[in-house]
Amino acid sequence: MSSRPKVTVIGAGNVGATTAQRIAEAGLADIVLVDIVEGLPQGKALDLAEAAPVIAHDAHVIGTNDYADTAGSDIIVVTSGIPRKPGMSRDDLIATNAGIVGAVVTASAAVSPDAIIIVVTNPLDVMCHVAMKASGFPRERVLGMAGVLDSARFRTFIAQELGVSVEDTHAFVLGGHGDTMVPLSRYSTVAGVPITELLTPDRVAALEQRTANGGAEIVALLKTGSAFYAPAASAFEMVDAILGDRKRVLPCATYLKGEFGIDGVFVGVPVVLGRNGLERVFEITLTPEERVAFEKSAAAVRELVAALPD
Ligand code: APR
Repeated sequence: MSSRPKVTVIGAGNVGATTAQRIAEAGLADIVLVDIVEGLPQGKALDLAEAAPVIAHDAHVIGTNDYADTAGSDIIVVTSGIPRKPGMSRDDLIATNAGIVGAVVTASAAVSPDAIIIVVTNPLDVMCHVAMKASGFPRERVLGMAGVLDSARFRTFIAQELGVSVEDTHAFVLGGHGDTMVPLSRYSTVAGVPITELLTPDRVAALEQRTANGGAEIVALLKTGSAFYAPAASAFEMVDAILGDRKRVLPCATYLKGEFGIDGVFVGVPVVLGRNGLERVFEITLTPEERVAFEKSAAAVRELVAALPD
């Protein structure tokens, strides 16, 4: 290893391997790729390492089945678990993935006590609870990747609809990662202009609906798994914000302590992300309608968490 930051990516499947690739190719950190399957992380890491001369980066990438190799990580990205198949909701994954996330976080947090955990495994908000409990870390160092992905999907659909660059298109999505997500269209803009001034209410509603259904749309097409390019790009953006201490304002699943009137549950809100992880919850005023939708979203997460085995 080197004096570069160290990022452990747990799960060498579609999301994990693609996240590792993006981080390595940006030269951001050395990567330890972990999986329960023997040979899989070693093989993918070697393949990624052999791409380095062509891409021209010097990040080290290793694969392992042993958590001792992950010791002293700055960031742990958790992608291990089973993905959805057509017809499944994210919540159908809960029992299997809670066991996997609990085990991998316990093992990795023990050897990287100062790490920041980014959870990607679904159902996202519930897995964040599992990770916080298993690690014993404070909320500042346990964050979930969902809002960046959901808002990226919303941005994609807005930009396609209006025939404008995605770069000038911004979107705001709050709430849980699932059917109860809350797209905030009045804060979603093209060059600063709210989309509610650019599109009819019907079209706005259709794009919001497509965003909430964005993961399922891809599962239905792929049939054998779920999305991974955009999820990996989104996890990468969080890693970049943290390692670069960039104070990015990104929507992340965050354990709220009274902010937005919600207490004791992980739900997606905008936060300031820097080298300390969550540095500030970026509170905004919601309309009564948005508040109802947001509270419904938080209640849905709370219900799933209450049903988790001890
Ligand atoms: N420890 C380590 N790795 C594990 C464990 C475990 N206990 N259990 C499963 N894995 C690994 C699998 O061996 C597999 O390589 O997790 C990897 C998951 O990869 P994929 O099946 O390709 O799934 P992926 O598409 O990457 O999705 C992973 O992210 O977006 C979410 O909903 C998605 O929960 C799913 C997760």
